[in-house]
Amino acid sequence: MHLSFDTRPAVQIDTPVLVTYVFEKDNRIEGALAAIDQALGGRLKRMADSGELTGKVLETTLVHDPPGLAAGRLLLVGAGKPEKFDGIILRRVAGLALRSLRSKSITRMTFLLREGERNAAGAEAAVEGLLLASFDSDFYKTEKKNGKVMERAVLAGAEGASVEEIEEGMERGRIIGESQNFTRSLVNEPSNVLTPRVLAERAEAMARECGLDVDILDEKRIAELKMGALLSVAQGSIEPPRVIVVTYSPAQAKAGAPVLGLVGKAVTFDTGGISIKPSEGMDKMKYDMAGGAAMLGAMKALSALKPAVKVIAVVPATENMPGGKAQKPGDVQFAMSGKSIEVLNTDAEGRLILADGITYAKKLGCTHLVDAATLTGAITVALSNVSAGAFTNNQEFEDRLLASARRAGEKLWPMPLDDEFRDMIKSTIADIQNISSGRGGGASIGAAFLREFTDDTPWVHLDIAGTAWLDDQKPWAAKGPTGMAVRTLVDLAMSLE
Ligand code: BES
Ligand code: ZN
Ligand code: ZN
Repeated sequence: MHLSFDTRPAVQIDTPVLVTYVFEKDNRIEGALAAIDQALGGRLKRMADSGELTGKVLETTLVHDPPGLAAGRLLLVGAGKPEKFDGIILRRVAGLALRSLRSKSITRMTFLLREGERNAAGAEAAVEGLLLASFDSDFYKTEKKNGKVMERAVLAGAEGASVEEIEEGMERGRIIGESQNFTRSLVNEPSNVLTPRVLAERAEAMARECGLDVDILDEKRIAELKMGALLSVAQGSIEPPRVIVVTYSPAQAKAGAPVLGLVGKAVTFDTGGISIKPSEGMDKMKYDMAGGAAMLGAMKALSALKPAVKVIAVVPATENMPGGKAQKPGDVQFAMSGKSIEVLNTDAEGRLILADGITYAKKLGCTHLVDAATLTGAITVALSNVSAGAFTNNQEFEDRLLASARRAGEKLWPMPLDDEFRDMIKSTIADIQNISSGRGGGASIGAAFLREFTDDTPWVHLDIAGTAWLDDQKPWAAKGPTGMAVRTLVDLAMSLE
């Protein structure tokens, strides 16, 4: 999709469709809309007064051959109440416009930013919304989607704004939107295509293209490093594990600056292992590498945005399979940190591989850690697919991450990690066990297990099991991978120094 900015006044823009948005109770039809309304001889005002144009969120109104406009059509998308309007809604408005026009085989559009969004943040959100909406999960359909690609999306709304600022915002939006789609494209791949080795190859290709350092640890180096927790999960599969390490080093990092570690769970398929999952819905478990893919997408974006701090992504990748060599409930394993783990449930495998990922990230010098993982079904019980859960050993660091999430328009909700959860993972035979014995709080238990490997390093765990996959398509997004966490992680890295 080609993106550009048109500085002409809206009425002069010749485009198949001029898109803009209307607020609820926006009967005043002000600013950009007033100029359009005037060209239309007051038609918008009459439509608003009669109740036909309500501005209700995501309601659409299409005006054909609008008199006085150079555009072929005018598409008005409801933006809801002005006081509730934010970057999340702006992304959806832009995305819905793209998908609904595309379904009508319209391949070019112009999106008019209104007064409040004629700035870097508004331009960024609009471009992200457009790019995210242009993603589809039908990778392996053999029939071509003729005419169903938005070829050209143009932003407009230059009056009273700094064109330079808007263009900067658009470029950020392009970088972040494309990176989020890179993450989604990895998550969308079936597990027969995307094995740990293939994920490593894709990460390596991305890193080389983006000028990032990359180190792929194979099973031999993983064994030398004594990553026993990762190996215990990998031993059940004929596919060997990998640990993907991608590093961004800024030219001039300040002495004593933080080093951000991004540790992502990449189980390319989670059968549950010997504690096997029920067959219904098991196909979705190809998405169990969404945390790792989010870290790789964030690195791709950071290579272009160039934060002031060093960032290291550590992505342990493996399958979780049953079989003659698979680990069994009750087995005891030694993690890289030296801690012994009683594996009471082989389906709680994400925490095992992340334990070694966290230890390795610390060994590489990370001073701050964020992990992202489709870790528990329990997080969906608590937060549905609305928000991801955030757990921490350092409130200040979590507050920074929550602020990043708000700026990035991703929903994160702080979850508890009381000391009591530590007692619930004490093992009889080993230091810790990988599940508790049935007193609820499953998402916090998973986080408490990870906390055992962070020591005092400031750390936030993001449980994205409920938010990394969209089960039903939305007007602004395809069903399938969402790219959750990429935008927040990028904002965090950009705001550390
Ligand atoms: N990958 C799953 C988490 C998951 C489960 C995501 C269901 C989406 C839907 C994870 O590895 C897992 O299986 N977790 C178990 C933990 C349990 C055994 C303590 C779970 O949540 O059921
Ligand atoms: Zn599992
Ligand atoms: Zn899993």
